[in-house]
Amino acid sequence: MTKPTVGLVGLGYWGPNLARNFDDLAELRWLCDASPDALERYGARYPQARTTIDFDEMLGDLDLDAVVVATPAVTHYELSKRALEAGKHVLVEKPPAMNVAEAEDLVTTSESTGRVLMPGHLLLYHPAVQKVKELVSSGELGDVFCVNSNRQNLGRIRTDENALWSLGVHDLSVVLYLLDEEPSEAWAHGSSFLTPGVEDVVFCYLRFPSGKIAHMHLSWLDPHKMRRITVVGREKMVVFDDMELERKVTIYEKGPWQPTETYGEWQTRTGDIFSPKVPSDEPLRVECRHFLELVRGEGDPQRAARDGLAVVRVLEQLQASLVGAPA
Ligand SMILES: NC(=O)c1ccc[n+]([C@@H]2O[C@H](COP(=O)([O-])OP(=O)(O)OC[C@H]3O[C@@H](n4cnc5c(N)ncnc54)[C@H](O)[C@@H]3O)[C@@H](O)[C@H]2O)c1
Repeated sequence: MTKPTVGLVGLGYWGPNLARNFDDLAELRWLCDASPDALERYGARYPQARTTIDFDEMLGDLDLDAVVVATPAVTHYELSKRALEAGKHVLVEKPPAMNVAEAEDLVTTSESTGRVLMPGHLLLYHPAVQKVKELVSSGELGDVFCVNSNRQNLGRIRTDENALWSLGVHDLSVVLYLLDEEPSEAWAHGSSFLTPGVEDVVFCYLRFPSGKIAHMHLSWLDPHKMRRITVVGREKMVVFDDMELERKVTIYEKGPWQPTETYGEWQTRTGDIFSPKVPSDEPLRVECRHFLELVRGEGDPQRAARDGLAVVRVLEQLQASLVGAPA
């Protein structure tokens, strides 16, 4: 089977990871960046790929199947739209757009052109997240009460997008995936300490129609590097901790209970604590493979685009509340 041909735009911090994967899994045919230095550097590493600073030159290649967008978030909508209109399948880094109207327009364009639009929600391809989803869906945790996430570190300090859009997009994609519903309420509070208008620390609260709630603490001004998502169920609780090398997922057989002899008084029970085996596949490799499957016509191409839209919808609500929140 011939490998799909891929052109990558954006060779900054993250793009080279995508280049490495698509060089292995597909035919990396083009590298595009506004910086001639970046092109020189990565053009030497991938000599079979053509290099250009002109996005349209890449789009004009009739033998190019797909475009991967790894430029700053504010450029995602425009570049993705142009690529879809040029008949290319698109994998766009998160978030696919900076507002709902543009995200909807991308979904519509992908549907009308019959091309794949897949936002790069990396964590959805993390084997540990798949494991947690399995535990939630199978009912092993019992009724899920709440999800609590921490994405904190000192750095990487961004000046072009706030902690909500830069970090929260990851947690949000997982929360929506695990709970399989969209929130009826979304509130965010935060503050810009370093760059005016760019919140460095954000706390988010979500309430879902089923009554479940979720909280996200997002910050690049924190002494601890934390990458953790906790799901609390009535029967069991599970923690996905991406800072752990081996024990990425820990299941706690802990929960509340009401023994009959205590006449309705709540007690807690503590059982085993264990870590199931989780495959060590690189999430980005799984993500890139999934994109190529969609390009080949395997799987549901609309699903990824619509999930990406749902994430932008909630981000926009959170952003509105963040800006409107009383000082
Ligand atoms: N999935 C993840 O875990 C993850 C991690 C880091 C970054 N990202 C995402 O990847 C994207 C890029 O982030 P980054 O940290 O690599 O940014 P960056 O600023 O380091 O790199 C962006 C690159 O894009 C180039 N560029 C900008 N506008 C361009 C244009 N119009 N045409 C061609 N080239 C252009 C710049 O020259 C630069 O080389 C962002 O959307 C970010 O959110 C995702």
